[in-house]
Amino acid sequence: MDLLFADEAFDRRPQIVAPGAVWIPGFLSPEAQTWIVGRYAEWQSGPVPPHATTIAGHPMSVRTIGLGWHWRPGRYDRRAADVNDRLVLPFPDWMTRLGRQVLGAASTVVDDDAEFPQGTAAGWGFEPGAYHPDVALVNYYDERAKMGMHQDKDEFDPAPVVSLSLGDTCLFRFGNTDNRNRPFDDLRLASGDAFVFGGPARFAYHGVRSILPGTAPEHGRLDHLGGGRINITMRTTGRD
Ligand code: SIN
Ligand code: MN
Repeated sequence: MDLLFADEAFDRRPQIVAPGAVWIPGFLSPEAQTWIVGRYAEWQSGPVPPHATTIAGHPMSVRTIGLGWHWRPGRYDRRAADVNDRLVLPFPDWMTRLGRQVLGAASTVVDDDAEFPQGTAAGWGFEPGAYHPDVALVNYYDERAKMGMHQDKDEFDPAPVVSLSLGDTCLFRFGNTDNRNRPFDDLRLASGDAFVFGGPARFAYHGVRSILPGTAPEHGRLDHLGGGRINITMRTTGRD
């Protein structure tokens, strides 16, 4: 309960969560959210359907679609050998542009409370125009789905990860680069929010503690899926 009513959970100003990690609530307009939800409806129909990836012998509770590459723990392939052996859809150009826009916006965020030195948001080592993500992992969470604390470390290129949320709000935990425990920040990622982690935050542990059912705004509702949440993370695999 302390988590649910934490002050930071309701502060919706853009903020630097840790050096290299920036949260931009409401980055996507209502129209953009509706449009991306429409793209999800297309991606769902294949060639590779949303599927529960197996980790250490257990299926994840989220269902994933890969764009550009098919992810399994420790590897990226063009074909989904563990699902139906089809080639995945290409990474869309519009998503590259969107990723660059998020990075551009995130690099202007300053820390109101001066908890971090100014400029820490942009400590990613390159200009937004040089961002070339080549994979998006599109995860669908039903109201019971979660994701344990983990690092995104199957990419050879340490470019920032750009995350976009649609549908129901989730309780997101963003931690440190050493372990799954404290210190961490608990945030509510809502429909339309962008979150970037790069530079010193690129290998921070993070996870999704829960979905808050029925919290999606009208323009981000996933009615055709029975509610829930979609998260898109774009990454740069560094593979060819
Ligand atoms: C992820 O860690 O890959 C997904 C995070 C999220 O759903 O916000
Ligand atoms: Mn992750």
